[in-house]
Parts: sequence; C-alpha cells; structure tokens
Amino acid sequence: PNAEQASDPFEYSYDLDKHEYADVDWDNLGFGLVQTDYMYVMKCSYDGKFEQGQLRRYGNIELNPAAGVLNYGQAIYEGTKAHRKKDGNLLLFRPDQNAMRMKIGAERMCMPSLSVDQFIDAVKQTAQANKRWVPPPGKGSLYIRPLLLGSGPILGLAPSPEYTFLTYASPVRNYFKEGSAPLNVYVEEEYDRASRGGAGGVKTITNYAPVLKALTRAKSKGFSDVLYLDSVHNKNLEEVSSCNIFIVKGNVISTPATSGTILSGVTRRSIIEIARDYGYQVEERVIPVEELSEADEVFCTGTAVGVAPVGSITYQGKRMEYKTGAGTACPQLYSTLVGIQTGQIGDKKGWIVEI
Ligand code: COI
Repeated sequence: PNAEQASDPFEYSYDLDKHEYADVDWDNLGFGLVQTDYMYVMKCSYDGKFEQGQLRRYGNIELNPAAGVLNYGQAIYEGTKAHRKKDGNLLLFRPDQNAMRMKIGAERMCMPSLSVDQFIDAVKQTAQANKRWVPPPGKGSLYIRPLLLGSGPILGLAPSPEYTFLTYASPVRNYFKEGSAPLNVYVEEEYDRASRGGAGGVKTITNYAPVLKALTRAKSKGFSDVLYLDSVHNKNLEEVSSCNIFIVKGNVISTPATSGTILSGVTRRSIIEIARDYGYQVEERVIPVEELSEADEVFCTGTAVGVAPVGSITYQGKRMEYKTGAGTACPQLYSTLVGIQTGQIGDKKGWIVEI
C-alpha cells in the first residue's frame, strides 16, 4: 500500500515507486513546514533504556502538562538533510556527526541518549518512509529534525522521568527569504545568545526562543539575521541566530572557536575541511568585532542555511559591505559541499550514507 492507503495510524508502509513524488510545488520551496507522511518515535522510560523505535503517521503528539520539556525546557534537537540522487537513491550527509552531537547535548542536559547506530537508523527510516517528499535533484532537500525531549511529568526542578526521541522531516530549499542573495546581518548588542558556563555549545531548544526578541526586531528593520557577541566582553564574534559565521581576509578564513558558547556546526566543520583542501589557511580563534571592518568577505554556515554569503553587517550604526559572487570563497566552498551532498562530486571523505 502507499502512504495514503495506510489505515492504521501506526502502520509502517511506504512501498512507493522510487520515482513517485508528493504533490509539492517544487519550484517554490522555502523553509516552511511541509508535513510529510511519517515520523519516527522511540521512548525511553525510567530505566534509561530506549525501546525499539517505530514509524508512525506524522501527527500531533500527546504530552502530560507537567512534561519536563514543557515546564523546564529539557530538550535538544538536531538538523540533517537527505538529498535525492539522479538514480533515485537518497544521500544522507554525516548523520554520525549529528548523532554524536546529540549524545554530548544529552549529557549536558541530563538526558539519556540513544546510540549512534540507533540515531542513524532513525534518520534512515524517516528519510526512506518520506521518500516521496524528497525534492527532485537540484530543487532542495529533505530536512530531517531529530528531537529528544523530556516527556515524563515532573513538578519540582529535576530531570524528567521519561524521554521521547522523535524524528520528523520536511522538504526545504533556501532558509532565508533572500533565497541565495547576500544576507544583511545586524550585530546585536543588547541581548546575548549564550554565556560562559551555559549551554550555548549544545543544541538545546532553550538557545532558540531567547533570540527571537533580537531576531524579530532586526527583521522588522529589514535585516536577515542577527550576529551575537560574547557575553563577557560584548566584543568578540560568536554566532548568528541560525548559523555559524566565517570571515575571509586574503587567503585566511577565520571562524570563532567553539569554546562552550558556540554551536559546533556540522556544516561549519565540513567547510573548514573543504577550505583547507583548497589551500586556505583556516583559523578557529577569538575574533574581535573590529575585524569585521577589515574582512574581504563574510559568510554563514549551517545545515538549514547551507553556506550563505553576507553582503553587509551593521554594527553600531555603521554598515560594512563585503564582496560576494564570482571569485569569492563562499560559492566555491558551497558548490563543493553541495556537490558532495548531492553525489555530483565523489565522496572521498566518507561523509555520505547512501540509502
Ligand atoms: C539547522 O541548521 O539545522 C538548525 O537547526 C538551525 C535552525 C534555526 C533552523
């Protein structure tokens, strides 16, 4: 049976012709939620062991009002993408990196974590079960969102007694409404994203709602996103609400070192490696905000964002502009990354899992 015919809401059936597509306007995909057929659910009860996970029809989940995630924000998430190859197979990009990051995040947030193999299996099953939602080659990807949340009830502040791991997916293309045009970024000085000793380095959901204030304010003024500075000195670059940041000066590409307040992005790590392969000198270090005025080029990286050129950054009322387009590092690095992700460039690094 195909997905529409599955009558049991928990039935696992996605026996589709490999070229069959869902009814999506593939030319107008952005980064909005398109609800797909299946999600993968796995529970972990009091003994800290995850039960056998299963695919279920995509839909609302039931939570106790006292669930740890609802009251105390105990949850972490991941983001990874599946691309459709021309022959119809799906390509996952470094899902082991997301699995390992989730393990580190779970430890920080006092949650049990599933194994790397369990995580990769969940991502594979989610991608395959929703295969008809994976865009045609060149039209985007299936964004896969694994979530680990404290689903058990708890009144006093303590780790939740029960956890749920779930993975859902949505076809996506460009994250920003600018499409692939250069971003205009605003340097935030009133609000911080993360503080020393906090959880800025892990992908906890509690890193995201607090930036909405600065983000919506900047967007209302026409900016694409917000760049945060370190909370101790209000002086060094940290990251953007939705992605990591890189600056380019000559042959040197620099990005803030991940020392606890900055998310260790999988795309960030991959771009560092690709840039070194091209002969750039890549530095992970403290970057004072003043260096923005000397940079030739700036770009952002993230799973959702990809590698996005920055056309301008506004700091203390001063707008600094950067080179974008042909001859800059960003398109060269991005096309190599996308080439590997879509199977057009041979994967010599063992980054691709083909399913
Ligand atoms: C991702 O890039 O996968 C993220 O989780 C960022 C999010 C703000 C969409």
